[in-house]
Amino acid sequence: MNNPFIVTGRYIAPEYFCDREKETAELLSNVENWRNTVLISLRRMGKSGLIHHLYHKDVIRRDYETFFMDIYDTANMEDFVLLLSKEITSRLQPKGSKLLDKFFQIVNSVKIGFGADPLTGQPGIDISLGDIRNPVRTLEQLFEFMESSEKPCIVAIDEFQQMAEYKNAKKDIATLRTLVQGCRQTRFIFAGSNRRMMGQLFHSPSEPFFMSCSPINLEPIDKRKYTEFVMDHFQKGGKSILPDSISYVYDKFEGHTWFIQYIFNRLYEMAQDAPLTIDDANAATDYIIDIFAPIFQEIFMGMSERQRALLSAIAKEGKAASITGAEFIMKHNLRSASAVQGALKPLLLDETVISWQGLYFISNRFFSIWLARRR
Ligand SMILES: Nc1ncnc2c1ncn2[C@@H]1O[C@H](COP(=O)(O)OP(=O)(O)OP(=O)(O)O)[C@@H](O)[C@H]1O
Ligand SMILES: [Mg+2]
Repeated sequence: MNNPFIVTGRYIAPEYFCDREKETAELLSNVENWRNTVLISLRRMGKSGLIHHLYHKDVIRRDYETFFMDIYDTANMEDFVLLLSKEITSRLQPKGSKLLDKFFQIVNSVKIGFGADPLTGQPGIDISLGDIRNPVRTLEQLFEFMESSEKPCIVAIDEFQQMAEYKNAKKDIATLRTLVQGCRQTRFIFAGSNRRMMGQLFHSPSEPFFMSCSPINLEPIDKRKYTEFVMDHFQKGGKSILPDSISYVYDKFEGHTWFIQYIFNRLYEMAQDAPLTIDDANAATDYIIDIFAPIFQEIFMGMSERQRALLSAIAKEGKAASITGAEFIMKHNLRSASAVQGALKPLLLDETVISWQGLYFISNRFFSIWLARRR
């Protein structure tokens, strides 16, 4: 392992994962006490990593079957069911044909094909839905299979808010809820980042998941713990960094996990003999912003003029309050409150802008710096 600051989003091993002890314990306690969890945070804070970190624990590996599905790319119940089928069969495959046989006995609407991976030549299985007119039937069978498992199953459904985008969202969510509630041993973790949508799915009385899960809100990693993590990895690599520069980076990005990891990944690469300073941290930031600049430019140019004006205004403030107020509108030359509102709506929906406790900010902190620097 060359660079211990992982930014690819893959979970590698506990030593590259900082802290989250409290959250992992809470998640484990939910699992062991058979509470389903809803895991919410800003994007890139570490939800998916936390689930993989939990799955990596000895006690989980010993006592449970674990499944992880990221439904970001699914558009309907068929996709959902196919994805879950693939996840279950791919986890069963290394455990031998007996379990797979049992799977296809119970889940008889899923068809299996055997073939070789075109890239590696390795033998593999190809899963498809037999009767796709009735994905709910297949889903019921998948649940039946999981419920009949020797060890209890944990199913993590990542990017769960995507389900609210399905054409038959209400019906599909209600179906899933009924099946989840009927489980006698399978536990669930629903993870997602769109606070409003996840909030609606889980806390609104009209939605079927109302109050059925135990929430965990993932906040930034504790500053002291993260500082130790950085110092430790630099030391192990025979490199050095001043604690002040760690503090500087942490504060600049408010401890937002992926962004600070990205900076330290770069700083680790830069480190020579002398301890890294705040100037080095700024140089690393500039370097990264420069790399992303063409992408940011592309995204920015694809937006309407009003959106561009609003985004720039929010970025210049860093955190902006009362953005439909006269003062903000005048200061940033925005047209009117209704123009701001119109521009804001889609930006909030796709999470380009986050509204949190009355303040607005740009969710991608590198994009925010790039925007603020534009003249
Ligand atoms: N505790 C941690 N220690 C070190 N790195 C972490 C930690 N948690 C997350 N990361 C890193 O931060 C990045 C974002 O983490 P992750 O993908 O888990 O976030 P997420 O909340 O699921 O994001 P998204 O909302 O985009 O799905 C990854 O590169 C991951 O390696
Ligand atoms: Mg994730």
